[in-house]
Amino acid sequence: MRAAILPLGLLLSICEVQPHSIQTGIQTEGQSTGAAAVEVSKQVDIYAELKKLKDIVEDLNVTLRQTQEDVKVLEADNTVMKTKLAVSEVEVTNLKKENGELKTRLETEITHLKMANTATVTEIEEQEQELTAVKTKLEGIETEVDHLQKEIKLAPKVAFSAGLTDSGEIQAGNTDLNLVFTKIITDVGHAYSSTTGFFTAPVRGVYYFRFTVMDRLHSRWMITYMCKNEQKKMGLSDYDTDGQHSYLSSGLTLELEVGDVVNMIIPAGHILFDSANNHSTFSGFLLFPL
Ligand SMILES: *[C@@H]1O[C@H](CO)[C@@H](O)[C@H](O)[C@H]1NC(C)=O
Ligand SMILES: *[C@@H]1O[C@H](CO)[C@@H](O)[C@H](O)[C@H]1NC(C)=O
Repeated sequence: MRAAILPLGLLLSICEVQPHSIQTGIQTEGQSTGAAAVEVSKQVDIYAELKKLKDIVEDLNVTLRQTQEDVKVLEADNTVMKTKLAVSEVEVTNLKKENGELKTRLETEITHLKMANTATVTEIEEQEQELTAVKTKLEGIETEVDHLQKEIKLAPKVAFSAGLTDSGEIQAGNTDLNLVFTKIITDVGHAYSSTTGFFTAPVRGVYYFRFTVMDRLHSRWMITYMCKNEQKKMGLSDYDTDGQHSYLSSGLTLELEVGDVVNMIIPAGHILFDSANNHSTFSGFLLFPL
C-alpha cells in the first residue's frame, strides 16, 4: 500500500506545480502573436490533460480509500480468524492428547481381551479333549454292555425243582436207592430228568443244589446223600421215635463240567415219605457259567 501511495503523492505535487510554470510560459511567450495563439491552445490542452489526470488521481484516491477500508476489514477478519485458529489449534492439541489416551486405553483393553480369549480358547480345548476321552470311554462301555447283553442272552438258563412222589413211602432195597423226583415243579433248560432223577450239567459252571426230604420216624433213621458223578458230597441223617414228620434239608454249591451229573440217594433199607404236598423236593440252578 505504501508503494502505491508514494507515486500518487509525486503525481499530486506535479499537478500543483505545473500550472505556475505554464502561466509563466504564457506571460513570457504572449508577446508574439501568430505563434502565441498556437502556444495558448497547447497550454489549454495540457491543462485539460492535467485536469483529466487529477480526476483520475481523485478516483484512484477514492478507490485507494475503499481498498484501505477493505484491507482494514480483512485485517480484522484475519485477526478473528487467527484467534479462532489458535483456539482450534489448542482444541486439536487437546483432542490429539485425548485420542492418544483413548488409544492407549483401548490397546490395553484389547490386550486384556486377547489374553482372556486365549485363556478361554485353552479351556475350551481342554474341555474338548476331556469330552473326547469321555466319548471314547463311553464307546468302550457301550461295547462292553453289548457284549454282556449278548452273553446274558446266550448264557444258558438252567433251573429246576421237582417233588418226589404222590404215593407215600419210598423204600430202598438191598442197595442204595437213586431218588427219582417225578413231579416237575419248574424245569427251565431241561437239565433235570424226572425219569432218571439225574441232573446233567449242560455247560461248565457253578451250580447250586438243595433238597428237603421227609419221613415219619417211628424209632428209625432217616439218611440221605447228595452225589456228584456218583460220589457222595453230603450226607444228612436224623433219628426219631414219635412217628411225626421229620425233615432233612440242606444245599451245596458245586462246580460242574459239561456232562457232570448230580443226584440224591438213600442207603439200602431206608425210607422217605412224600405226598401231594411236596414234602420231599430236589432243586438246582446254574449260578454262572465258567
Ligand atoms: C484524498 O482524500 C483525502 C480524504 O478524503 C483528502 O484529504 C486528500 O486531499 C485527497 N487527496 C487528493 C490528491 O485528492
Ligand atoms: C406239588 O407239585 C405238583 C407238581 O408241580 C403240583 O401240581 C402240586 O400242586 C404241588 N402241591 C402243592 C401242595 O403245592
